[in-house]
Amino acid sequence: MAKVKTSYFCQHCGYQSPKWMGKCPSCQNWNTFVEEIIQKEEKPTWKSHSSSLQIAAKPKIITQIDYQEQNRIITSDNELNRALGGGIVQGSLILIGGEPGIGKSTLMLQIAMSMPTAKVLYVSGEESEQQIKMRAERLNIPSQDLSNKESGCYVLTETNTQNIFKQIEILEPDLVIVDSIQTLTTVAIESPAGSVSQVRECAGEMLRYAKESGTPVFLIGHITKEGTLAGPKILEHMVDTVLQFEGDRHLSYRILRTVKNRFGSTSELGIYEMRSSGLREVTNPSEILLSQREGELSGITIGTTLEGNRPLLVEVQSLVSTATYGTPQRSSTGFDAKRLNMLLAVLEKRGGYRLGSQDVFLNIAGGFKVEDPAIDLAVCVSIISSLEDVPISDQICFAAEVGLGGEIRAVNRIENRIAEAQKLGFHTIFISKFNAKGLDLPSFQIAVKPVSKIGDIVESLFL
Ligand code: TYD
Ligand code: MG
Repeated sequence: MAKVKTSYFCQHCGYQSPKWMGKCPSCQNWNTFVEEIIQKEEKPTWKSHSSSLQIAAKPKIITQIDYQEQNRIITSDNELNRALGGGIVQGSLILIGGEPGIGKSTLMLQIAMSMPTAKVLYVSGEESEQQIKMRAERLNIPSQDLSNKESGCYVLTETNTQNIFKQIEILEPDLVIVDSIQTLTTVAIESPAGSVSQVRECAGEMLRYAKESGTPVFLIGHITKEGTLAGPKILEHMVDTVLQFEGDRHLSYRILRTVKNRFGSTSELGIYEMRSSGLREVTNPSEILLSQREGELSGITIGTTLEGNRPLLVEVQSLVSTATYGTPQRSSTGFDAKRLNMLLAVLEKRGGYRLGSQDVFLNIAGGFKVEDPAIDLAVCVSIISSLEDVPISDQICFAAEVGLGGEIRAVNRIENRIAEAQKLGFHTIFISKFNAKGLDLPSFQIAVKPVSKIGDIVESLFL
């Protein structure tokens, strides 16, 4: 094995030391030293004859650089295509991060098995062939044409990168998926799989392979709840695209969010639902968030929020009841508790509602977390509705922020929000009058009602 020279570096300030230290003498931080390679005698690459990399680059005038629109592989999964900005770019290195058990392996296996014309290599260091087969059976994807050797999903259970590249040279796949980067090891480094230097070196080899061969590579990376594993963080700088797969493990929907993308926008995202037979694409996300209700109940309103660029309609539920104990309780799920207190104060002061002696419980249905202030108006109306015990029609929705003066403020992307509400068949949407200025209101099929203060809305809904 090649002799490698390593040294320890403080990950915080870059201080170099020949041996490991608990505390950095330069920046005084604890536990920041990580072993890194400073010189390798022989650099193993995915192909031994990759000396072309050594040719020094020369500066070029930017106007003379040839540019071709990136060639993209369009997968059968529209949510993934969308998150990637329109398909997988050839030669790109994509990291999919997420907590254990969220469904990363399921998503990638599903994609690997449903590529119609590509040869996909699924490298797993986490599961045995049998386990992968079992998962595949569960996904229930129609089996591929066995006579065609140029397409299909090939599974390799291997963690040594040199062996993986050997198989890649034989198979010549169109797409490589590595599950997960933390299990890979390269002979160049002695530290265990999953350590910072090991993860970085293996990802570096994958990067060189992707760029030289033009084959896109997906790397799956685990992030623990505390974010302790340094691996994926350093990876973010190396890869072209970082996708974050997130969601609550107890709830069925999952969001594939683009955190970084050299080939597209980061405001795109894909939404899935985890079922017993794998992940299902959710094309109309508002549907899963609006709970099925029979008849009209007080305290329920519909607000609009944005996830990336996509407008979503979410259901706000509140329950206001007379406090039985001295101090009234305020509790909110999926909505900032401080903001709830602020809105309650606004309702008390500007709307004249006596909420000081009431318990207030607020919930965003579907376990969704909303940070968008555009939901404020829906929250306020829901609280008044519960307090007064007057139901709000399920045909009405709201899109506006509420200020401290009780004024209804404008929100961004109002056209998208109105369009989403119209698409889902609502007959009225309340917006700020400042948002209405640039809009051609009669052009919408939905009734758009501009309001300027809390009093206006109370007048039109409760009086
Ligand atoms: P997995 O893809 O193994 O997660 P990760 O690779 O991110 O660690 O998915 C784990 C969970 O998904 C597991 O708890 C079971 C669930 N699951 C389903 O609900 N339906 C399915 O069809 C599959 C394959 C998994
Ligand atoms: Mg997994």
